[in-house]
Amino acid sequence: MPAATFNLPIVGASNSSAAVMSSASSVSSTSAHDHLTLAVLGCGSMGIAILSGILNELAEMDAPRPLQVVTSSASVSSLSALYNAQSAPAASSSSFGASSAAAPDEMPERLPTHFLACVRRPEAAKRLRAALWAHSSVVKVVVDDNVAAVQQAGVVLLACQAGEAPALLSAPGMSRALQGKMLISICEGVTAEQIEGYLYGEEEAAASSTAVASPKEARCRIVRAMPNAASLIGESMTVVDTSSATGPLPADAAALVTWIFRRIGSVVHHPSRRAGASAGTRALTTVDRAAASSAAACTALGAAGPAFFALVLEAAIDGAVAMGLPRAEAQLLAAQSMRGAAGLVLQNGEHPTLLRDRITSPGGCAIQGLLALEEGGVRSTVARAVREATAVAVQEGK
Ligand SMILES: NC(=O)c1ccc[n+]([C@@H]2O[C@H](COP(=O)([O-])OP(=O)(O)OC[C@H]3O[C@@H](n4cnc5c(N)ncnc54)[C@H](OP(=O)(O)O)[C@@H]3O)[C@@H](O)[C@H]2O)c1
Repeated sequence: MPAATFNLPIVGASNSSAAVMSSASSVSSTSAHDHLTLAVLGCGSMGIAILSGILNELAEMDAPRPLQVVTSSASVSSLSALYNAQSAPAASSSSFGASSAAAPDEMPERLPTHFLACVRRPEAAKRLRAALWAHSSVVKVVVDDNVAAVQQAGVVLLACQAGEAPALLSAPGMSRALQGKMLISICEGVTAEQIEGYLYGEEEAAASSTAVASPKEARCRIVRAMPNAASLIGESMTVVDTSSATGPLPADAAALVTWIFRRIGSVVHHPSRRAGASAGTRALTTVDRAAASSAAACTALGAAGPAFFALVLEAAIDGAVAMGLPRAEAQLLAAQSMRGAAGLVLQNGEHPTLLRDRITSPGGCAIQGLLALEEGGVRSTVARAVREATAVAVQEGK
């Protein structure tokens, strides 16, 4: 099947849903504007983190800068040009050589300017309004009306818990509302095939993966992205799966996905399988298996990595406490040391071995500690932890 055409639709009054409009504060007044609306389905902790990152960036882009005149009506594209010219974002994006699709590090043609944050319960809506009150002119909280929100959106972020995805996606009218749009899922452990199944039914999903199924315009474009817990402080490592049974992600869509997740940290693009290959429909080739394994390693390290480093951090803190340091002080020292080491590697591109050598002076305390770590098998244990986590991620098709 040829790659599906993917456009970022312009949202106007004509496709607005009465249900959403009735509680809208700003979306309803934008009929004539060429704006892109992002709907977040399941806007809990992660949804809030991602939305906050986006909204803060947009606010910053819109703020006047010294020696620059930016009118409040400036279009996103002019802001984009300014942004490209002026700022080198702290977060980075990269791709992995030949095995990866391009990881665009450029501004997408259009950025989302309006946002629909969807939850199920009024209590959750209250929390959401409190968290995003500073941006209430462009964010509307939608309670239990997902289909209407998706109808108004050009791009959709699925950020509910994995167990909540089936009911949410199989709601009547959802697959139709998503037609021709990009659905970005951050649901851990939920594969693209499962999402297809929830949306179109198991048979349809299986047919789609053989690439002979229903018309391309009847489907949405599913992109899986896996941020990590550090999203909450803008330090996520997000892995975007660029593979798809419907062909490579169009450049502008890929740029938009990158742009969104750059707002909460760094981004890498990695295919979980060879372009055009579909899981479950034929024997996996060596190339497929290698792609799946390295994609799972990205997930394991990116998503589980903070947990591994937390254990190392905890151990260092315990050691200092055992030697008489108060726990709070030990925690600060250990965490800042870990941040410093990571910062040197990330910012200077320094190899960890060189960093270690530079710190280690003859007869000093660092070499004694390092030898103890090597004797304890820390290197092989940590490496094995990543391998074990990767094996599980492969099994789960993450
Ligand atoms: N937390 C992490 O570090 C992390 C990292 C990577 C990926 N993820 C993935 O991110 C996703 C979200 O995680 P989270 O920690 O943000 O979860 P969360 O705080 O529990 O948020 C889930 C949200 O989904 C809403 N929701 C559930 N069913 C809904 C429905 N039918 N319609 C509309 N909204 C609905 C809930 O609203 P109500 O409260 O109203 O039900 C809640 O606000 C998960 O799939 C997780 O695997 C998380």
